[in-house]
Amino acid sequence: MNELDSLPAGFTWGVATSSYQIEGAVAEDGRTPSIWDTFAHAPGNVDGGHTGDVACDHYHRWPEDIALMKGLGVDAYRFSIAWPRVVPDGAGAVNAAGLAFYDRLVDGLLEAGITPFPTLYHWDLPQALQDRGGWADRATAERFAEYAAATAAVLGDRITSWATLNEPMCAAWIGHIEGRHAPGVRDLAVAVPAAYHLLLAHGLGAAAVRSVAPGARVGLVNLVNPAEPATGSDADARAAERFDGHVNRWWLDPVFGRGLPADMVELYERNGARVPVRAGDLAAIAAPLDWLGVNFYNPCVLADDPDGPVPHARETGGPGERRTMLGWEIRAEGLERTLLRVHEDYAPAEILVTENGSAWADEVGPDGTVDDPGRVRYLEEHLAACGRAAAKGVPLSGYFAWSLMDNFEWAFGYDARFGLVHVDYPTQRRTVKASGRRYAAIIAAQREAARGTE
Ligand code: IFM
Repeated sequence: MNELDSLPAGFTWGVATSSYQIEGAVAEDGRTPSIWDTFAHAPGNVDGGHTGDVACDHYHRWPEDIALMKGLGVDAYRFSIAWPRVVPDGAGAVNAAGLAFYDRLVDGLLEAGITPFPTLYHWDLPQALQDRGGWADRATAERFAEYAAATAAVLGDRITSWATLNEPMCAAWIGHIEGRHAPGVRDLAVAVPAAYHLLLAHGLGAAAVRSVAPGARVGLVNLVNPAEPATGSDADARAAERFDGHVNRWWLDPVFGRGLPADMVELYERNGARVPVRAGDLAAIAAPLDWLGVNFYNPCVLADDPDGPVPHARETGGPGERRTMLGWEIRAEGLERTLLRVHEDYAPAEILVTENGSAWADEVGPDGTVDDPGRVRYLEEHLAACGRAAAKGVPLSGYFAWSLMDNFEWAFGYDARFGLVHVDYPTQRRTVKASGRRYAAIIAAQREAARGTE
């Protein structure tokens, strides 16, 4: 793959997961329920009634999972830390037994020569905090900073790169407008304060990590979706612009010091929501990032939808014929465009693709192998897009495939498989898929090429 020649020396090759999606062990060592435990256990919220109770049993099988990563040859592992393990009540006492799990994991990764790359919040808010108002309550952002400080104080001697939040856009909008994710709210007047407090949590959390771990390199992970109008009509163009404001600019402008996008504040207020800004908040949110994580899956194509929920833009699914099993259009140039846009509009010092991948209904064949040509092609095309973006000047320093292994895909349950490694849930047997072998070969070839130019 010639495009990869443009990637810089020292490029980080990684895989990503998140706590609720893989760990299981939901009631062990003092962990309390998160909003996802509550949501998944309520009938009708998750396909097949699936929950994260056992998931990939990673809590017990992490040594095997580290060995898998070592086999793939990755440099780094992006995982998330479960707040309800570390601070079970969401506030106050730190649970040493919960933190000890991550302590063991980090040591195991370092022994295997893999850099730990944790995210402090990947959607599993302690239920105890939801009961006190959740993200709609400003205090949740303050509690997040305390939890971040407690965690970084223990792990910060061995971890350099920290992400505060994963895709706060989904936590806010899918969780509080669409209600398809925990906590299952459908109310803009709750969603907008939640979205604002997630931004604030990022800012306060970044400062908290830096205060206890001075060498820390802190970033934020955003899903960035190119927004394209479905037709040439003015109405669709405006819908795409609103969608861009809602899913992209709201989460990037304030972080890069531009304040809240005025058009979005106006739209939210016109629809009955209030943005609870206080003096000093925007400066905290805009504390310089060491890196920005960009998650990309598919471009979004929008039609005007005046009667639909804010931002009154309906995703049409796009024109393409190639789709993953979730119906997501496959168009890798969207990743190249996204990286260029983020670079040109916001100029982060460093950009990493922190998630990228595709879901398929993979099965283990009679010979015991898993052939997943759709994922292999998706991976190759999106890596090539990364190479092209780097060639055009994007300061891209890493790529994390989503996901190391099949896992709990939120409202879609376990049938949507995103892993480079297949998980047979009844036996918990792991099988590296063809895509995992392809990724390992690409990493090995890139490493070899880098050695040749030394
Ligand atoms: O599985 C999710 C992940 O938790 C967040 N980003 C998108 C992935 C695929 O939907």
